Amino acid sequence: MKMEGNTILITGGGSGIGRALAHRFHDLGNTVIVAGRRMQALEEAIGERPRMHAMTVDIENPDSIADFAARLLEAHPQLNVLVNNAGIMRFETLDRSRALADAEAMVDTNLLGCIRLTNALVEHLSVCDDAAIVNVSSGLAFVPITAAPTYCATKAAVHSYTVAMRAALEGQVEVIELVPPLVQTELTPGQSTRTGPQPLGDFIDEVMTLFQGQPTPAEIIVERARFQRNAEAEHRFAEAVSTLNKRDREARKTA
Ligand SMILES: NC(=O)c1ccc[n+]([C@@H]2O[C@H](COP(=O)([O-])OP(=O)(O)OC[C@H]3O[C@@H](n4cnc5c(N)ncnc54)[C@H](OP(=O)(O)O)[C@@H]3O)[C@@H](O)[C@H]2O)c1
Repeated sequence: MKMEGNTILITGGGSGIGRALAHRFHDLGNTVIVAGRRMQALEEAIGERPRMHAMTVDIENPDSIADFAARLLEAHPQLNVLVNNAGIMRFETLDRSRALADAEAMVDTNLLGCIRLTNALVEHLSVCDDAAIVNVSSGLAFVPITAAPTYCATKAAVHSYTVAMRAALEGQVEVIELVPPLVQTELTPGQSTRTGPQPLGDFIDEVMTLFQGQPTPAEIIVERARFQRNAEAEHRFAEAVSTLNKRDREARKTA
């Protein structure tokens, strides 16, 4: 992927990983549009940066995505990179019947949001020079935790969809998967101040180094995410499920 001179849309760019990516790509000489539901968070993310822009979208809502895509291409016809980063994570219990609103919101936001927005922009991107799509999945796509089963399933689906997209768009759009491990953001309440997750700055440093590889790897996997990403290939999947779930239970007991 080209590292400068792009026009990049980052969904969920008002906080956490999206905001950190937006700042790094801006500072490398790219125009960056950050999108999310909260205009105030987006404006704070921009600060005084001259080549950043904010646009609102609710990625859970198909009508909002269609309206957003039209406004986006009108305002930024040079758009050549899409980063599908917006996401939510809710904890759930599987051992009793429950209302499924959280599960539905995660499928709509994490999976259908990525599918719908990509669908709205693919015809534009596929005729652009230097086009790229970056889908943000998770280490939990590869080894699930029992406390967040729907979240893990949406991320496994994003991984699968990304593999298919990469093959379908070969030669037209570079398709990259970014696989974060547990990182200090407010994806779940209190996560940004817990000591276990990787500090956001360290994570983004590693991510940007990997992005600058020539060619950019198809999957951006920082050191801490390798434990999950490679578990199955290294024949230690069952052990990884057990270790990760034990670690998760202990971390949340002391949180
Ligand atoms: N942090 C981790 O440990 C971790 C690990 C693996 C993967 N990830 C993934 O990394 C991505 C970024 O998460 P993060 O950790 O940076 O958490 P975060 O700070 O909570 O960021 C999530 C972003 O998504 C946006 N968003 C959520 N629902 C949306 C909607 N309906 N429409 C538009 N935007 C929406 C939020 O903006 P608004 O609220 O303003 O809409 C927010 O800026 C997510 O896909 C997450 O699953 C994170």
